[in-house]
Amino acid sequence: MQDLNIEANTYNDSVVRQFSIMAVVWGVVGMLVGVIIAAQLVWPELNLGLPWTSFGRLRPLHTNAVIFAFGGSTLFATSYYVVQRTCQVKLFCGKLAAFTFWGWQLVILAAAISLPLGYTQAKEYAELEWPIDILIAVVWVSYAIVFFGTIAKRKVKHIYVANWFFGAFILTVALLHIVNSASSPASFMKSYSAYAGVQDAMVQWWYGHNAVGFFLTAGFLGIMYYFVPKQAGRPVYSYSLSIVHFWALIFTYMWAGPHHLHYTALPDWTQSLGMAFSLILLAPSWGGMINGMMTMSGAWHKLRTDPILRFMIVSLSFYGMSTFEGPMMAIKTVNSLSHYTDWTVGHVHSGALGWVGLVSMGALYYMVPRLFGQKQMHSMKAIEMHFWLATVGIVLYISSLWISGVMEGLMWRAINTDGTLTYTFVESVKAKHPYYMIRLLGGLLYLSGMLIMLWNVLKTATSGKAAIANIPAVTAHA
Ligand code: HEM
Ligand code: HEM
Repeated sequence: MQDLNIEANTYNDSVVRQFSIMAVVWGVVGMLVGVIIAAQLVWPELNLGLPWTSFGRLRPLHTNAVIFAFGGSTLFATSYYVVQRTCQVKLFCGKLAAFTFWGWQLVILAAAISLPLGYTQAKEYAELEWPIDILIAVVWVSYAIVFFGTIAKRKVKHIYVANWFFGAFILTVALLHIVNSASSPASFMKSYSAYAGVQDAMVQWWYGHNAVGFFLTAGFLGIMYYFVPKQAGRPVYSYSLSIVHFWALIFTYMWAGPHHLHYTALPDWTQSLGMAFSLILLAPSWGGMINGMMTMSGAWHKLRTDPILRFMIVSLSFYGMSTFEGPMMAIKTVNSLSHYTDWTVGHVHSGALGWVGLVSMGALYYMVPRLFGQKQMHSMKAIEMHFWLATVGIVLYISSLWISGVMEGLMWRAINTDGTLTYTFVESVKAKHPYYMIRLLGGLLYLSGMLIMLWNVLKTATSGKAAIANIPAVTAHA
């Protein structure tokens, strides 16, 4: 209780609490929509014949909900938690921090309404229409002010490496969003991109790839650099490596976007450049992964008893796997097989469910009891169960899509001796059906783990309410 009082006097945790709870809530919602669209791919009648519930509208709802609502809320919560503790000061401008919470929830609500209604700029991961884009820009700039303002008033001279990753993520996402969303509004909720033709595609995939590199990677590496050492009770394996990791990663990611546009109208040299940088990207990615893993030196035995640490370390293994697979898929000859197939979707989810999902869950399980004045989560058994449901779910999801992806790629290119195609397109769709069932099962397991997490987090939060109430009022809600 004493510690909690000191923490509450020193830090502004109410915004961290709000973002943490909403991260779990949006995780459940986003994954539920993921399960629904996975079921629609097995039984297309689940589209219900309605425009609002069609696959084409629910798919971007899923991607926006999991990336920006679940991932985004996790990143806000963890970065605000970490920057205060590593700088030893309260968040800069508490009111602006509160605005980032309510503003971000408003963005999510606007997305949840406008996407099923069919409003879209038709740019992947940047579907939202211009009025929402403006709101995102305002919230994001406020986030930057709060984060960098806190860094500026720090009491510790050194800026811990996790903050470098969070800082790069915040700055780059602002740049990507503002440049890629540039458009001329034609009416309320309708606009035309400022770019045309191949330039539009290039800008879009510069954005899209760096959304992966900075939103889904750099920010989560910030999480790794704080929470893995904390939970393992060990210092980061190599601080020098973390600095090399940072600069190499942020420099290289910027150039890899064209691997999304192989064999298109994009000039050939840009495609080769994108491929070369993607191959180079393996080195910093694995450097970071190894740094995280080796932080466990001397603490490996803890994995046997600590399910939270297990979330973090298994997440790092999936990070290693997906950042090995990505460079391979960026090789043009490999991409000629993988592109347009389920292999890509399998790759996405080994990064998304394995890396982003598990590291988020680990960090949230670390933070929630501390934020609500509890020694530990309400049920450690439930965390254990969540871990296994999530891990088995991921394995079913990604292995079924690897098989179905490679299979459909090979079916599309199979040619008879007389030069005609061996299979019709419909035959390849039919062949994927069993694998879609397995993916759905994997998704259901992953979602059920998330539901258990929601219950566990709410139980911890409500039993912690009494403890929070005992903290001097101003500081607890500052
Ligand atoms: C229960 C968990 C989940 C299920 C069942 C699920 C299911 C799906 C399905 C069915 C698709 C459409 C695939 C297609 O068009 O063929 C999809 C796309 C996508 N999902 Fe998920 N998903 C889940 C969790 C997540 C999470 C946690 C993230 C991110 C953090 C994520 C990110 C994405 C992305 C980025 C795409 C677009 C992929 C692409 O364009 O290649 N998903 N998901
Ligand atoms: C070294 C790191 C990585 C490289 C070089 C890489 C490379 C690639 C390549 C070549 C594609 C297929 C493009 C296509 O054929 O259309 C792809 C797709 C994708 N990757 Fe990765 N990847 C990496 C890591 C990751 C990680 C860690 C995540 C998730 C956290 C991720 C998420 C995605 C997404 C969402 C797509 C689908 C984009 C779309 O078409 O909608 N990647 N990546």
